[in-house]
Amino acid sequence: MEDASNIPGYTYGTPEVAHSPVTLDDLAKLEQAVGLTDEDRRYLHMAGDVLEDQAEQVVDAWRAIIAKQPHLACYFLDPDGKPDEAYKAAVKRRFVRWVTDACRRPHDRSWLDYQEEIGLRHTQAKKNQTDNAGVVAPHIHLRYLLAFTAIATETIKPFLATKGHTSNDVERMHGAWCKSLMLHIALWSRPYVKDGAW
Ligand code: HEM
Repeated sequence: MEDASNIPGYTYGTPEVAHSPVTLDDLAKLEQAVGLTDEDRRYLHMAGDVLEDQAEQVVDAWRAIIAKQPHLACYFLDPDGKPDEAYKAAVKRRFVRWVTDACRRPHDRSWLDYQEEIGLRHTQAKKNQTDNAGVVAPHIHLRYLLAFTAIATETIKPFLATKGHTSNDVERMHGAWCKSLMLHIALWSRPYVKDGAW
């Protein structure tokens, strides 16, 4: 796994990260709402071990799906209509890191704040800024962030099954991943929503 301090723009745990207005008590309620149990947390750790050396392939698989849909690929295009490869590469390093973070990071204040930061980086408040990118699209529309959750839950399963775990373990890792992903997306949606509606 790449050393976090070498990843440009990966500001996890630093004062540069946005502060999430979500309290740890709100977070506990949200975890309860997605049904995240202590057993899920153990299976998420197991998933982290399974995914660690496959994280880049996971991101490549998702990118391939995005590339085939012009209404998704457009969020990475430069003013000439070509994919901004430098931007894609920079974002990818943080994205790869996120795959294991999603499985291993404790859900504390630093984690909560970085979820707010990732949410903001999908919106016009912060998109393109971290990498100083000249990409045209200023904002990823919320509907696609939500819809892509279906892809990110379905496509992870074959990766979880590559290390010889029993089908029961694979199912449980997958269940824990799905809950974790929904939790992330719920938190990332917060900066999109008008005050009081979240
Ligand atoms: C389940 C859905 C999604 C997940 C798990 C996800 C995850 C991530 C992560 C981890 C990052 C890097 C955060 C960081 O800077 O540390 C990121 C950034 C980004 N994502 Fe997503 N994403 C999702 C949906 C989408 C969709 C649907 C699009 C558009 C097709 C998209 C486009 C981008 C772009 C353009 C960035 C870079 C934003 C910037 O300029 O900083 N994402 N995403």
